[in-house]
Amino acid sequence: MEHQVRCAVLGLGRLGYYHAKNLVTSVPGAKLVSVGDPLKGRAEQVAREFGIEEWSEDPYELLEDPGIDAVIIVTPTSTHGDMIIKAAENGKQIFVEKPLTLSLEESKAVSEKVKETGVICQVGFMRRFDPAYADAKRRIDAGEIGKPIYYKGFTRDQGAPPAEFIKHSGGIFIDCSIHDYDIARYLLGAEITSVSGHGRILNNPFMEQYGDVDQALTYIEFDSGAAGDVEASRTSPYGHDIRAEVIGTEGSIFIGTLRNQHVTILSAKGSSYDIIPDFQTRFHEAYCLELQHFAECVRNGTTPIVTDVDATINLEVGIAATNSYRSGRPVQLDVSRAHTSL
Ligand SMILES: NC(=O)c1ccc[n+]([C@@H]2O[C@H](COP(=O)([O-])OP(=O)(O)OC[C@H]3O[C@@H](n4cnc5c(N)ncnc54)[C@H](O)[C@@H]3O)[C@@H](O)[C@H]2O)c1
Repeated sequence: MEHQVRCAVLGLGRLGYYHAKNLVTSVPGAKLVSVGDPLKGRAEQVAREFGIEEWSEDPYELLEDPGIDAVIIVTPTSTHGDMIIKAAENGKQIFVEKPLTLSLEESKAVSEKVKETGVICQVGFMRRFDPAYADAKRRIDAGEIGKPIYYKGFTRDQGAPPAEFIKHSGGIFIDCSIHDYDIARYLLGAEITSVSGHGRILNNPFMEQYGDVDQALTYIEFDSGAAGDVEASRTSPYGHDIRAEVIGTEGSIFIGTLRNQHVTILSAKGSSYDIIPDFQTRFHEAYCLELQHFAECVRNGTTPIVTDVDATINLEVGIAATNSYRSGRPVQLDVSRAHTSL
């Protein structure tokens, strides 16, 4: 493809607005040509802000628009499956946020459609593009810590998302810990064979009506013999706290930091520094790099480093962790599938 990839962003909420902005400012291979959101006035407002002439309050209309090469789907997770299938049937190249869908059946149907139509389907596991995680991956692959044998990761959100989001999110293991399952598989180059999920509501009683928890732990085992643990929390009032550690036979790698700037304030009261406030700040570079990668894959006809195939495996792990939490028993996973991007 010689021209810039003509993109439409569907869903302009917490993250969709941000993806639209990044497309305009930081992705030279792509051009934002349209935006869609059913919330009255939202699409028009965003279109005006970014100087775009086209918008729609019916995102499905955009899936059929011949002037659009690619769609960036950032709508509630429960709508992803249907949208991907319609986008693929219309020959649109697809970037979709994680998780791919909420059920494995739908994930598999989506993957079949993507394969049948030959379109690209990149999924928003942006940690693979974050400079710190990417550097850790290069160092692990170069043998700097020997054989990786333990993954420890946590995702602590500043606070709980609104009830309307929780309702469509699939629960904390599928919505939140899924980022750690993906990056753990990627960093260790191994598939997860067993999960044991645990969780409790510590601070957000409203989650009970959605069968969700605000604090979770998953103990995981890999086919390489490695193990790990993944914590997720919706109570991190100090900021967005994402860190990980990979322990190897010859050393260890720490990934992430709380610091937002390389500045420390010293006064008679002591010292302090700013903490990363939100996911948009923590992963700004990763969000730009994943969209740049997507645009390049569309232009060159190459396969992205993270697709619906990995997303389906990550979802399977998230569902198993949820089932394990509910049943109180570990759940085994079938890893006979071919290793994908690992
Ligand atoms: N990769 C990440 O770090 C990350 C972070 C946040 C959210 N997400 C994912 O992004 C997706 C959106 O999350 P969010 O936090 O931006 O949600 P949100 O609720 O803030 O925004 C969703 C937007 O989609 C619109 N919408 C609702 N139904 C729609 C439909 N049928 N078609 C089109 N638009 C519709 C809503 O009006 C809203 O503006 C979710 O799948 C979520 O899991 C990923």
